[in-house]
Amino acid sequence: MPSAPSAPSTPSASAAQSDIPHPSSPLDGLMYGHIHASALRAVVVHGIPDLLADGPRTADDLAARSGTETEPLRRVLRLLAARGIFHDHGDGTFGLAEDGQELRADVPGSQRAAVLLFTDEMFRRSAEGLPDTVRTGRTGFDAAYGVPFFDHLSSEPEKGRLFDAAMTSLAPDEANQRLARACPFPDGGTVVDVAGGRGGLLRAVLTEHPGLTGVLFDRPETVAGHLLDTGELTGRWRVEAGDVFTSVPDGGDVYLLKHILHDWPDEDCLRILTTIRRAMSLGARLLVIDAVLPADGSPHPAVALDVVMLMTLQGRERTAPEFEDLLARTGFRLDRVVRTPSLTSVLEATAV
Ligand SMILES: C[S@@+](CC[C@H](N)C(=O)[O-])C[C@H]1O[C@@H](n2cnc3c(N)ncnc32)[C@H](O)[C@@H]1O
Repeated sequence: MPSAPSAPSTPSASAAQSDIPHPSSPLDGLMYGHIHASALRAVVVHGIPDLLADGPRTADDLAARSGTETEPLRRVLRLLAARGIFHDHGDGTFGLAEDGQELRADVPGSQRAAVLLFTDEMFRRSAEGLPDTVRTGRTGFDAAYGVPFFDHLSSEPEKGRLFDAAMTSLAPDEANQRLARACPFPDGGTVVDVAGGRGGLLRAVLTEHPGLTGVLFDRPETVAGHLLDTGELTGRWRVEAGDVFTSVPDGGDVYLLKHILHDWPDEDCLRILTTIRRAMSLGARLLVIDAVLPADGSPHPAVALDVVMLMTLQGRERTAPEFEDLLARTGFRLDRVVRTPSLTSVLEATAV
């Protein structure tokens, strides 16, 4: 049972309710996790954060503007206020807290698409299957949908667009810019972003390094929505659609592989790295950008992502020795691992 307040309150107790401790255990947060996720989805689906862009509003007003019912909306807002997303002013009005600002659709770095993706039925149903995944090793996604994750995205264009938009929102411009500055790039030559999504990182790399040209490579549905068509980069990029398990554009000087290896089990990573190595000349560089788990088992925030990979793709987060092993078996030397201020590190490797 969830923990109850330690002392019962009586009608005569005049102490302010806020003085009464409301103990909660770590178990509460875990058991109710999906309730909070669903509440978050509800307010994003109904555009509540956008309606609060100019300041607080009453629940009545919000309900009228969003086509929802006042009372259920008020209660969901109250729950999320307790989690720091909204301010509950106690007089029937709610405001958007600092931590809720990125739920708005119109702000730079908006996380709206990411919330809609990770609370989508694709992830909810995958998570529901975790007890079976733990027993059998089969992903909840495969059990629920009968096809691999990326095949599903290819056959459901709306889901595919949601995924691509979420990946773009998870890597805002400043994060890509920081990576583009932190990674070692030559003054000239060609950068190939393998499975580079819509090209947010490649765009930042080309902007930061004016001597480089770039190739964005991904599935056809994804490159169709690329973001490279900005005036200042004209003539410095091209887009290629294909399958990373078959072939990738050859002759690049630097290959980028960001948040790709963690999508796949070892045998698929070996196939991907072998395909890329085949396209590279001796001495060309590969930059693998992924979380790197501590080899000593100490805590790392990417263990949550690790379980997301487990339940959807049979992918995994890895330690540096595990990456080094995959790289060594496919013709690469791992030169160094550079930590970044974000969740990810850059593993710099050379084709040998
Ligand atoms: C986790 S996303 C990462 C995207 C991008 N690198 C980023 O960091 O935002 C994985 C990417 O792999 C692409 N992908 C999956 N299977 C692929 C395949 N067989 N061939 C090419 N790209 C693939 C997806 O379309 C998606 O863009």
